[in-house]
Amino acid sequence: MTYPELEARASSAMPPSVWNYVACGAGDERTQDANVAAFAGWGLMPRMLVGATERDLSVELFGTRWAAPVFLAPIGVTGLCAPDGHGDVEAVRAADKTGVPMCVSTLAEDPLETVAAEFTETPGFFQLYCPTDRDIAESLVRRAEAAGYAGIVVTLDTWLPGWRPRDLRTANFPQLRGHCLINYTTDPVFREKSGFTEGSSQRDAVPFWASIFGRSLTWDDLVWLRELTKLPLILKGICHPDDARRAIDYGADAIYCSNHGGRQANGGLPALDCLPAVREAAGDVPVLFDSGIRSGADVVKALALGATAVGIGRPYVYGLALGGTAGVVHVLRSLLAETDLIMAVDGYRSLADLTPEAMRRVSTR
Ligand SMILES: Cc1cc2nc3c(=O)[nH]c(=O)nc-3n(C[C@H](O)[C@H](O)[C@H](O)COP(=O)(O)O)c2cc1C
Repeated sequence: MTYPELEARASSAMPPSVWNYVACGAGDERTQDANVAAFAGWGLMPRMLVGATERDLSVELFGTRWAAPVFLAPIGVTGLCAPDGHGDVEAVRAADKTGVPMCVSTLAEDPLETVAAEFTETPGFFQLYCPTDRDIAESLVRRAEAAGYAGIVVTLDTWLPGWRPRDLRTANFPQLRGHCLINYTTDPVFREKSGFTEGSSQRDAVPFWASIFGRSLTWDDLVWLRELTKLPLILKGICHPDDARRAIDYGADAIYCSNHGGRQANGGLPALDCLPAVREAAGDVPVLFDSGIRSGADVVKALALGATAVGIGRPYVYGLALGGTAGVVHVLRSLLAETDLIMAVDGYRSLADLTPEAMRRVSTR
């Protein structure tokens, strides 16, 4: 029922290497912890005599109405986290059961088409780690379009992995053991360029994969990416308002404010501290947000500080590890129930009522 309980139970349910990979962050993990702590610095002002017996948490995004302003953030080892090793499929089934859209990572254990075959009413998004090789990037985007994804989330902050001592200590990087590479090894362009064939093992793909994994994207690349697809283009990892403004000028359909859960660069700001300025810079353009969401109270605070929709990261993976689809459904329903109840008790009937004016700084005395 609480995040600490969920985390503790997941830590004993997951294989140590997978647990470490999910739980760890960059450096001494201060930024990762600060992401969570930042939420304690804000409080919602209750309003009375509002009659908030009914709440509307729905939001219109990319031409579809979402039942709630919440989505599953892309997590590269989702596949490995489920007891059956097919976590991407299990999680997308939970997305369908709850109406909470999922961003499916490039780093998956089932091909993006297999995951998309589970989509029903709830839209799904494809998260692209843009390879250095443009032909492979284009092929991944075309496949996502053909499979029915509703948008492309391009992650900007992870063209190389950050300094993660917990993983480095045990030489733990699942992809270098051939895990989560199925979207590459099923890709015709990747196969052609790498020489990967039916008879190859996933591990055989590792050296070529490592050589093309991450393109350090520039504004020029953004022109190319924008022209590549008509699907909504969502840029993940933006924390500076100037970057948000410029990204919108270059045709981004949404800004995704995130610091990758503190896994990439230590010594940074909590993502929540970056959100208000990004919101202001983005104007009417949607702002997605993640990094540090652990409860419904956190969802409410992120919405009030400017998020159009809020991404759930580690909590859903822990639910997945404990109970597959049912575990993710439990985590999401709990978060949504708490979000809705806070809005009821504090007298906020709709998302439009949740504004920065509703927030106060918590006294540190
Ligand atoms: C184990 C793990 C793997 C991740 N893999 C990806 C990924 O493949 N693509 C991506 O854009 N973000 C990835 N992220 C970042 C998440 O999308 C999200 O930004 C982060 O989990 C938010 O922090 P939180 O989980 O602490 O709330 C990953 C995060 C974790 C914990």
